[in-house]
Amino acid sequence: MTTSPVALITGAAAGIGKETALAYARSGCDVVVADIQESALHQLVKDIKLIGVDALAVTTDVSDINAVKELHNKIMERFGRLDYACNNAGIEGENAPTAESSLENYDRVMNINVRGLYACMQAQLAIMSSQGRGSIVNMASVAGLIGFPGLPAYCASKGAVVQLTKTAAVEYAEQGVRVNAVCPGAIKTDMIDRITSKDPETEKQFAALHPMNRMGTAEEVANAVVFLSLPGASFITGQALAVDGGMVAR
Ligand SMILES: NC(=O)c1ccc[n+]([C@@H]2O[C@H](COP(=O)([O-])OP(=O)(O)OC[C@H]3O[C@@H](n4cnc5c(N)ncnc54)[C@H](O)[C@@H]3O)[C@@H](O)[C@H]2O)c1
Repeated sequence: MTTSPVALITGAAAGIGKETALAYARSGCDVVVADIQESALHQLVKDIKLIGVDALAVTTDVSDINAVKELHNKIMERFGRLDYACNNAGIEGENAPTAESSLENYDRVMNINVRGLYACMQAQLAIMSSQGRGSIVNMASVAGLIGFPGLPAYCASKGAVVQLTKTAAVEYAEQGVRVNAVCPGAIKTDMIDRITSKDPETEKQFAALHPMNRMGTAEEVANAVVFLSLPGASFITGQALAVDGGMVAR
């Protein structure tokens, strides 16, 4: 049991999730990190503990409902509370235009990005509504706000994340639980390296999608997640905040 706020982050082993875990730790939270990459999680726990807070790694595939239940049970057993959750685990899937994209890809992307996130949110809302407090931040994308050629299933999944966010926000507002989404533009992580194949010309084109003419950093997204999570954002719920260097403002 702990008196510090407890934050959970899924997909925490790399990229945006890892930076968010570290940012929660720097804000004074004990941090639970969940991912399918076990060894990277254990290194991250060591890094978080160096900041001076407690940390727990739980190897979890968010598309496995039993694993999701076990993750939340472990949090309650170990810490007895859950204050903040960032549902960040996600995949981009294959890159192909709609007519050529496979249904297998659609199922895989929706299973992790939407069904997995939904299962996590259900567990978190049950805990947080009984506590009478809590804040959830879901990782959507600008691809949930506008279309991107070659990523139909991914765009559909992130649009669904925005709508799940708004619905839960309205449902649980009176019970003291806030639910928001973050919609990053192109952020320099392994995911964007897979999409651009690190080709300098493609990277330049991705940068140019943003009025700031650059990609974002994982830390810039983490800062937005922590802002929306903490009590400073106490009157903000149901928002899909673009962290995109101005991309969707054009
Ligand atoms: N990088 C971007 O440009 C960008 C832009 C908008 C939104 N996003 C979203 O941000 C989130 C993180 O992206 P990233 O760029 O850090 O990606 P990443 O690929 O660098 O990291 C994703 C992490 O999620 C984990 N993961 C994948 N499937 C999982 C599963 N089934 N269960 C648990 N963990 C799983 C991976 O192991 C990895 O550690 C994703 O939801 C992504 O869609 C990324």
